[in-house]
Amino acid sequence: MTVHPYSRPRRLRKSEALRALVQENHLQATDFIVPLFFMEGENAKEEIPSMPGYYRYTIDLLIEEVASCFDLGLRSVLLFAKVPDELKDAKGSEALNPEGLMQRAIKALKKNCPEMCVMTDVALDPYSSDGHDGLVEDGEIVNDASVELLGEMALSHAQAGADIVAPSDMMDGRIGYIREVLEEQGFPNVGIMSYAVKYASCFYGPFRDALDSAPGFGDKKTYQMNPANAEEGLAECALDLQEGADILMVKPGMPYLDMVRLVKDKFKVPVAAYQVSGEFSMIHAAADKGWLNLEDAMLESAIGFKRAGADLIASYFAKDIARLLKS
Ligand code: PBG
Repeated sequence: MTVHPYSRPRRLRKSEALRALVQENHLQATDFIVPLFFMEGENAKEEIPSMPGYYRYTIDLLIEEVASCFDLGLRSVLLFAKVPDELKDAKGSEALNPEGLMQRAIKALKKNCPEMCVMTDVALDPYSSDGHDGLVEDGEIVNDASVELLGEMALSHAQAGADIVAPSDMMDGRIGYIREVLEEQGFPNVGIMSYAVKYASCFYGPFRDALDSAPGFGDKKTYQMNPANAEEGLAECALDLQEGADILMVKPGMPYLDMVRLVKDKFKVPVAAYQVSGEFSMIHAAADKGWLNLEDAMLESAIGFKRAGADLIASYFAKDIARLLKS
């Protein structure tokens, strides 16, 4: 008996050559954004306990790390400063210091590797003694005063030389306000990658270890989105685009691939997916136990983002993947 004689999808899977010929999506190093953590000091790096093989660097070593990323074909980095505890206060004042750790790192990278696209995280949490992304008044994360501070913060990153600012705070109206400040202060070509669809997620845990930035009280549910919602994410995207965002981001990544696809289909702009710290750590943990093959898991998760419609992928695996693509 013949089963489905004419239609046999397996015909195109029969050899490596055929499979490659009909492959729909591909990874390249330039798709990736490398998140990088850095700290004060000299000639030191510290492994982040919950992120195996991932480090915080002092600026001198950060420069070397970025050069080695560039050599592997990577062209974009996203910067996160680990601010010393004694510099944190209720207003996150250190975020605006023109000679602060972030501002010095931006200048150093643009000087040493000018062709690397430098993106910066804009949110108050690593600078705030409350560990929240905005200003806290009477136990509440206030919106408009936070937005004004975030505007100043983005401006100070632009003045230091950032190519793209990436507000990750989820305050209302911040994209429009930041865009206005950048235009008025002479930075019309500094782009905005908006964390437009950012969920209140448990998968940020290891990142908060990396920066020692966990909220001092409560959680982030009054500003980050409810993981149960999809339509709301599209509404956030529409607002951010209207306000002047250049790139829309969905975060976390793997549990939210539906959002990547929805955003890509609806808005014809570049979409980024952020494979966050917890996603990196859980793949590592399973690999350490011998339950998953590390390289296969990182590549499969990455191609999943492309298939879902992501143009850009922020991932702690970026450098490993770039190395694999090169070999
Ligand atoms: C700061 C910020 C966070 C992440 C990126 N920017 C943490 C948070 O919102 O609590 C998470 C990144 C990751 O987990 O890899 N607002």
